[in-house]
Amino acid sequence: MPACRHFSHNYSSRRVAAEWNKYNMTDLSIGEAQISDLDEICEIENLSFSTPWSKDDLKSTLENDSAAIYCARSEGKICGYMILYGTLFDCDIAKIAVCPDKRRQGIGRALMEYCFDVCAGNDLDTVFLEVRESNTAAISLYTSLGFEQINTRKDYYKAPEEDAVMMRKVLN
Ligand SMILES: CC(C)(COP(=O)(O)OP(=O)(O)OC[C@H]1O[C@@H](n2cnc3c(N)ncnc32)[C@H](O)[C@@H]1OP(=O)(O)O)[C@@H](O)C(=O)NCCC(=O)NCCS
Repeated sequence: MPACRHFSHNYSSRRVAAEWNKYNMTDLSIGEAQISDLDEICEIENLSFSTPWSKDDLKSTLENDSAAIYCARSEGKICGYMILYGTLFDCDIAKIAVCPDKRRQGIGRALMEYCFDVCAGNDLDTVFLEVRESNTAAISLYTSLGFEQINTRKDYYKAPEEDAVMMRKVLN
C-alpha cells in the first residue's frame, strides 16, 4: 500500500485560464469542492455513471486528506467535477464528469489541465486512471492530453460488466 500524501491546494491555474479563454468561457472557474456543493455534484454523478457514488461516499472523499474534489462552475452552477487521490509520487484520477448539457465545450479538458497543475503544485509526477474500454469520449480526451494505455483489467466494471483500460501520463 503506497504512503498517502495530503494535497496542498496552492498552485497556479494560469494554464487553465488560458484553456477557458480558448473556448471563450470567461465565467468558468475551478476550485475545491465544499460540503455545500455535494448535491449538485451528486446530480451530475447520477447522470454520468451507471454505478454512481452516493452523497455519503462523496462526503467521505471530501474528508479524506489524501483525496480532493474539484468542481468547475459556470453561470453560478457546477457543470463538472473530478476526484483525485494522491500517493507519495502519483495521482490517480478516480472520477471526472461533466454535466451532459455542457459536454463538448472544453470543460473536461480544463479540469484535466487543472489536475496537471495540482500535480505540479504537489510534486506528483505521474497521473494514472482507469476507463471503460467502450468510453471513446473519455479515451480520446485522455489520449489527446498525452495519456498512454499501460494495461487492462478484466471485468473491472459492473453494470454492465466491462474491462478497464488503465492509462498513464508522466508529467514533465
Ligand atoms: C469524458 C467527459 C468528462 C469529457 O468532458 P467534456 O467536457 O465533454 O470534454 P471536452 O469538451 O473538454 O472535450 C475534450 C476532447 O475530448 C474528446 N471528446 C470529448 N467528448 C467526445 C465525444 N463524445 N466523442 C469523441 N471525442 C470526444 C475530444 O477529443 C475533445 O476535443 P474536441 O472537442 O476539440 O474534439 C464527459 O464526456 C463525461 O462527463 N462523460 C461521462 C462521465 C465519464 O465517462 N467520465 C470518464 C470516466 S473515466
